[in-house]
Amino acid sequence: MPALSISDLMFKPGLMTGERILITGGGTGLGKVMAEACLILGAEVYICGRRGGVVEATARELTDAHGGKCVGLACDIRVPEAIADIVATIWADGGALTGLVNNAAGNFISRTEDLSPRGFDAIANIVFRGSFLVTLECGKRWLAEGRHASVVSILATWVWHGGPFTVPSAMSKAGVNVMTQSLAVEWGNRGVRFNAIAPGPFPTEGAWSRLKPGSAVDEAPPADPGIPHNRNGEMRELANLAVYLLSPGSAYVNGQTIAIDGGNHLMGRGRHDLAGWGDAEWEEARSAIRSANDQDRAQRTV
Ligand code: HXC
Repeated sequence: MPALSISDLMFKPGLMTGERILITGGGTGLGKVMAEACLILGAEVYICGRRGGVVEATARELTDAHGGKCVGLACDIRVPEAIADIVATIWADGGALTGLVNNAAGNFISRTEDLSPRGFDAIANIVFRGSFLVTLECGKRWLAEGRHASVVSILATWVWHGGPFTVPSAMSKAGVNVMTQSLAVEWGNRGVRFNAIAPGPFPTEGAWSRLKPGSAVDEAPPADPGIPHNRNGEMRELANLAVYLLSPGSAYVNGQTIAIDGGNHLMGRGRHDLAGWGDAEWEEARSAIRSANDQDRAQRTV
């Protein structure tokens, strides 16, 4: 089912006309929604994933719903030759890409002491190494051809505060965060810019089945009652941010990682527990603090 229409998007129709965007892991979840938004706004969109049937079906579904051009390509980004193949196919199919979204990910919750080397590699080779390899394959072409391009990587707020029980993912996404900052500088003066999005909870089948096994994607209320906005993210909200970072209108934004999580990653840094207090609790606190101040004052000698 298509998830978006033009009315979900903040932008004028045709904003992305002339843009050519590759979205890794674009067959499902967040990648699919970002693909749909770019397509609705006029971009030519390529989506890749390990399940060829899924990316092809998604490409068909989106073009049936919105028209335009969306192409599904089977690719495991753990395999450098497979990346080189699809990038060559895309360039031959209509010219250079103008944007890349490093969205493909792998993850599962596990006690870190239970991880095997292959378990670590299964995640790191997709997120850390695979994101780099796709970026490199496109980047070499952009630099050689003197093209402008925007790279957006999908991270997690774990890059700032860690991700217990998802350590390979948190480490890998932190590495991609540093790639974003490094290449923003190294390639920025040649027209290739880098930004990242750190989403909070946007329930998708792929993520929820590995991060919250046994809980349904559409489960309410939001999984984390501490989110200041008290809800999960909406797909169109993420799609709008991704389009902004991919579009020429954000050309001066470079090297930034933007959280879209309702403020959730700032929880735990201060007294967020006070949000639930009413007048009675505040009055009680005020009088307790006044009484402590009075005692303090009574003992002052200067
Ligand atoms: C411990 C596990 C495990 C688990 C797999 N392994 N699942 N170890 N606990 N639950 C180990 C296996 O035992 C094996 O090691 C190794 O990992 C490889 O497993 P395979 O199943 O053969 O790997 P593969 O088929 O390549 O699958 C890769 C995967 C899988 C990462 C394990 O989950 C996957 O394909 N995921 C793609 C989609 C996805 O994960 N989406 C979620 C993204 S959410 P041994 O030693 O036994 O051989 C996300 C976070 C967003 O990124 C942030 C939200 C806030």
